[in-house]
Amino acid sequence: MSHADDHVGTRRDFLYYATAGAGTVAAGAAAWTLVNQMNPSADVQALSSIQVDVSGVDVGTQLTVKWLGKPVFIRRRTPEEIEAGRAVDLGDLIDQSAENQNKPDEPATDENRSLDESGEWLVMIGVCTHLGCVPIGDGAGDFGGWFCPCHGSHYDTAGRIRKGPAPQNLHIPVAEFVDETTIKLG
Ligand code: FES
Repeated sequence: MSHADDHVGTRRDFLYYATAGAGTVAAGAAAWTLVNQMNPSADVQALSSIQVDVSGVDVGTQLTVKWLGKPVFIRRRTPEEIEAGRAVDLGDLIDQSAENQNKPDEPATDENRSLDESGEWLVMIGVCTHLGCVPIGDGAGDFGGWFCPCHGSHYDTAGRIRKGPAPQNLHIPVAEFVDETTIKLG
């Protein structure tokens, strides 16, 4: 093997490794971006409490806000939704706990899950308790509440799991009305 051939071989090897290296860097950058988006940044984490103006939320609609990196559903329920939620026999529920941070250890009655006495306002973490997808709302699913299409979990008008693989009702965060049209989360 001449000295010239040796040189060409080395150059090929160099190009090969350089290309492979570039690929690795690109994949690493993509993975980092994804991980970084999944972790709330320091300034988002600092906002452990936020106030939400709900004056524009009509009956029968819902607002989704992002809080601590998660979607929070704020629904203003119709009289029919409230009635349907209150008519449910607790014995029919898969999860008997209200999953309500404002009322720990209370049973999953519609009254214990809604934010106000009229039952019009329902505030929940919008994350399926199975594997964490975001359920579809506005009367979706077999029970007229929310439906998670990932593996078919059906939640009722109070966000309680009624059918499918999810083990728990949609969680309810610490929340309260601070005035007539403002809900404070956290
Ligand atoms: S993540 Fe919702 S059903 Fe599996």
